Amino acid sequence: MKVHPSVKTVCRRENKTKGRYRIRKVHPIAGEEKTETIYKEHGIKIKLDLNKTYFNPRLSHEREIIENKVKKGEKIGYLFAGVGPFALVIAKKNPDVEITAVELNPEAYKYLEENIDLNNFTGIIKPINEDVKKLKGYNFERVIMTMPIYSEEFLNSVLKNISNEAIIHYYSLGEEPDYYEKPMKELKKHIDNFEVLDKREVLNYAPGKKEVVIDIKIKD
Ligand SMILES: C[S@@+](CC[C@H](N)C(=O)[O-])C[C@H]1O[C@@H](n2cnc3c(N)ncnc32)[C@H](O)[C@@H]1O
Repeated sequence: MKVHPSVKTVCRRENKTKGRYRIRKVHPIAGEEKTETIYKEHGIKIKLDLNKTYFNPRLSHEREIIENKVKKGEKIGYLFAGVGPFALVIAKKNPDVEITAVELNPEAYKYLEENIDLNNFTGIIKPINEDVKKLKGYNFERVIMTMPIYSEEFLNSVLKNISNEAIIHYYSLGEEPDYYEKPMKELKKHIDNFEVLDKREVLNYAPGKKEVVIDIKIKD
């Protein structure tokens, strides 16, 4: 705190990311006793509580990659939205899109709503506090599935809510030596015909394990 005077609180990590809501608890050890903060990235503000919501600043580069792939006017399903970072970054660069942001954790959903307001994206990002498995009647042209651990469980529901030739960003965990083998198997199991547009290593997850993403386009 002496070196960086803007730092008001120092926290210690208490555990690894856990549970369906993917929360990693922290404990304040110096400065103000609080875990709520506003993080700034790509010209947007992201308000969150470290002890109640998922957030990972190391996904900043991945958000930038997705932001650059989005096309004008697209109908986007941002699933597992957390406090909204991908949607906020996309809306900043492409105010012309329509993003439905779906999040189940009520605490994360509260911040998602607040962040839409804070960055003046009302009308561009529509938040929904719902289980992705219960989605019905959508026709997304692009789907961002940011739930690498359980992603396969949600593919059937996603496939019922997309348009022809939709693009899916499928985040998943892969293992050495071929990090893409397991996610590719999952995709082939659920989808008859698709084209791989791109694939990337996103984060180191554990020794021998990485979070990867495969971008696919659905074919008839
Ligand atoms: C790995 S986090 C990603 C959050 C956000 N996209 C980000 O990049 O910061 C996954 C999120 O999915 C939410 N979630 C878990 N199960 C869900 C479900 N069935 N439907 C909707 N959201 C769910 C969790 O609460 C968590 O916020």
